Amino acid sequence: MVAEAYAYTHLISRYCNWWDTFACLLAAGWFPMREAGLRALDVGAGPGSATYALLDFSRAVNLTIVDLGAPDQFRALLTPRPEIAMVESSWAMSHFVHRLSEERGLGGPYGASLNDFFNLRLVRTREMNEETRRELISKIMDEYDSGWDGAKWILREDYPEWHEPDRYHLCMISHFLTLDKVLEDAAEALQGVKKTLPPGGIIAVVGAARTGGKYGPIYQELERQMSGLAHLEIPEPPVSVFDEESQEQLNKLYRSIQGRLVELGVDPDAAMASWSSGIRDFVVQRWKPDNKPVIPRFRLEVFRAGHRPKKRRRA
Ligand SMILES: C[S@@+](CC[C@H](N)C(=O)[O-])C[C@H]1O[C@@H](n2cnc3c(N)ncnc32)[C@H](O)[C@@H]1O
Repeated sequence: MVAEAYAYTHLISRYCNWWDTFACLLAAGWFPMREAGLRALDVGAGPGSATYALLDFSRAVNLTIVDLGAPDQFRALLTPRPEIAMVESSWAMSHFVHRLSEERGLGGPYGASLNDFFNLRLVRTREMNEETRRELISKIMDEYDSGWDGAKWILREDYPEWHEPDRYHLCMISHFLTLDKVLEDAAEALQGVKKTLPPGGIIAVVGAARTGGKYGPIYQELERQMSGLAHLEIPEPPVSVFDEESQEQLNKLYRSIQGRLVELGVDPDAAMASWSSGIRDFVVQRWKPDNKPVIPRFRLEVFRAGHRPKKRRRA
């Protein structure tokens, strides 16, 4: 139930924060768009707030272009569905995403494709490449029932880019860099994402709006690690508001959970007695019939890879 409880508490507000992030990037001309479609990474994806927001935002851009009967020159902005790799270590979160995608009726993702961000190495060393090469050749030998030299030839001819690193145009990091230790453990993987960003590629970090306390040094360190990339200054990202209909729908959802707990024989007051008053008040507020849900403010840091000039050949 942990994944469900987490999603109940955070999924909607963070989905909205990411939607606002993409709107902000689009307005700044920084939203990465690509004729062949985006490849994105959702780091510590949890229940998939950033992933679902990206899928829906891109879909909305496409639908707007079509619905407006936009002139031909804007049709070039129609893009395929982004390909998103969710990196998530918890099986429960991954499974939650699978079930939510089945319910949504808009297709996947059906879980995480990578499990440990800390050990993700996009930049491969010579040794890693050699190991990958050997593995691929063995696989081809099995599949094609060929010898070593034949498999080497197939690898060269059919998979000429096998040694290229995976590159992502957009890396979304949402409420993941919350402790010094996490940033420390993630540092090498983050360098890999940074070094393999294509020109115009973005690393976007969303977190709690609080800037003081433990977060100050974390963001300072993040900025240091991202040096060399352009930093888009967004002092306070705009936050969208729920209209009345959405408020009503949300309140219905919140109270249906309360109703279900009571139905299951849980006494919410007794269950919450040992909780800190902040969390208790938060839950109680959600269950009030006149609750006015608001999307919390958030912090957004965006880093972008420049368009590197091609190296001149020596005369
Ligand atoms: C605070 S949650 C944030 C979830 C989501 N991004 C959001 O904004 O709501 C952090 C998530 O990172 C996952 N996580 C922790 N360590 C990880 C690792 N090394 N690799 C991938 N995911 C990890 C946790 O399981 C958890 O779902």
